[in-house]
Amino acid sequence: MRVIVCNDYDEMSKKAAKLVASQINLKPNCVLGLATGSTPVGMYQELANLNHAGEVDFSEVVSFNLDEYYPISRENNQSYYYFMQQQLFSKVNIKPERTHIPNGEVEDPDEECKRYEALIQEHGGIDLQILGIGQNGHIGFNEPDENLNSLTHLTDLTESTIEANSRFFQSKSEVPTKALTMGMATILKSKKIVLLASGRAKHKVVAELLTSDINTGIPATMLKVHPDVVLICDKEAYSSMYLGVDIGGSSVKFGIIDEEYNLIYKDSIPTRISQPAEVIADDIAKMCKKIMAKYPIVGIGVGAPGSISGKIITEASNLPFRDFPLAEILEKELGIPVELNNDANCAALAEATIGTKAKNMLMITLGTGIGGGIVIDRKIYSGLGDAGEIGHMCIQADGILCPCGQRGCWEKYASVSALVEQMQAAAKENKDSLLYQMIQENHEMVDGKLIFSAIKQGCEVAKAVFDKYLDWLTVGIRNVIMIFRPETVVLAGGITTEKELLLKPLIERVASDVPIKISKLQSDAGVVGAALLARD
Ligand code: F6R
Repeated sequence: MRVIVCNDYDEMSKKAAKLVASQINLKPNCVLGLATGSTPVGMYQELANLNHAGEVDFSEVVSFNLDEYYPISRENNQSYYYFMQQQLFSKVNIKPERTHIPNGEVEDPDEECKRYEALIQEHGGIDLQILGIGQNGHIGFNEPDENLNSLTHLTDLTESTIEANSRFFQSKSEVPTKALTMGMATILKSKKIVLLASGRAKHKVVAELLTSDINTGIPATMLKVHPDVVLICDKEAYSSMYLGVDIGGSSVKFGIIDEEYNLIYKDSIPTRISQPAEVIADDIAKMCKKIMAKYPIVGIGVGAPGSISGKIITEASNLPFRDFPLAEILEKELGIPVELNNDANCAALAEATIGTKAKNMLMITLGTGIGGGIVIDRKIYSGLGDAGEIGHMCIQADGILCPCGQRGCWEKYASVSALVEQMQAAAKENKDSLLYQMIQENHEMVDGKLIFSAIKQGCEVAKAVFDKYLDWLTVGIRNVIMIFRPETVVLAGGITTEKELLLKPLIERVASDVPIKISKLQSDAGVVGAALLARD
């Protein structure tokens, strides 16, 4: 399905009218499939203008309308017969005998449906079908159902369609509950299909149409099997989507957000850290391509650990990226703009935008290292390029050597990896402790959360390790609060969800009027923030 996004309703109507006019100019006796409803009104007016200006001639055109209420008389000003006379047929030089609309006055609707279907086929089928879309995804009056009827048929209207169409009637009770409609196969046999959608009310269904697999619950998705469908919609109806990529030590996460910041898709692939940077970049590009084939992605944002300079990862502690122009490579490969930033900065941006929504905040992510993101006036503060690397602030002169080359970095004491090392060292010295026993049992699966179970089961050794760990965490948080005085400090990372043993005692120790909160987005923060980079 090709998508054309127009600025507004007027532009959409003019584009659609041009397409119809070209079809008529190409084949003057073509068969048009026409829709009613509010969406095509502007297109019909534009066609009338073109007809008057002598730019298109309807005299040989044949038309078949999609549907008609049942039962309804032609004189009823809500009948589609009446609508078509008012909106198009009375304004252009089409011959009345060449226009066809299912007859809502007949006694035998099934007979009428057969007649109508046969008549379309006698005319060689429809050359160009115009469609609108219902808020529930209906096409014509093919309402969502387990099975869709393929040929022209009598159908019951759903409650949501009756509700949506009640705007044209005096009251909801006057809306007919049945209709005669072309079936899905009748529509899909058309040589070309133009689907129109306009306005905020269609935003949700257009997003569903573009992102869902073919299913009868959203009949419009059936159009995806047709080789020549163009969706012409205005900006209000169209949902631009942004892809976030969050590169981590063990996996690369992918997530899509829509314009309302909803995370509508999530997936991940393993990070092949033993491979060269080019291979990882290729893995990422392949996955992006797969996603872009299905979703209308208009921009990509990438969050990566380490130092970033523009489109280049200058250094990433646990990954093989050194002066690697990842964003440039992806842009070339994928043909859309790619933004790059530090992963903790991305997480901070997500929290500031849709999580805690603080204007000035600090984000601290506890994981393999400690990541930091500084948000000032809702923008990431980058300094000369890579500000916010708070995990490498020195808290101990002549302390533990860090892979960054400096000694005493905060993350060597207060990251989750540091906590695991501290647990393992204490367990070795206390082989009769529960902590030792638990580490032995869990072998290589030891993570930061294990200490909480040991403490909860009364292990004094674990308690002492964690008390010391909290001291290190407190020192760093106090320092950054002193420097920035943010509205809030947000913590993210697996262990931070432990309220009783981590958050409560930490708040007591830091003893500041600056609130310390837990990330609302947690493990999604990075990928959502990366997508926000692309959006903003
Ligand atoms: C009309 C039709 C319906 C409408 C749809 C959208 O002939 O078949 O499927 O296209 O209900 O209606 P509007 O344009 O009023 O939002």
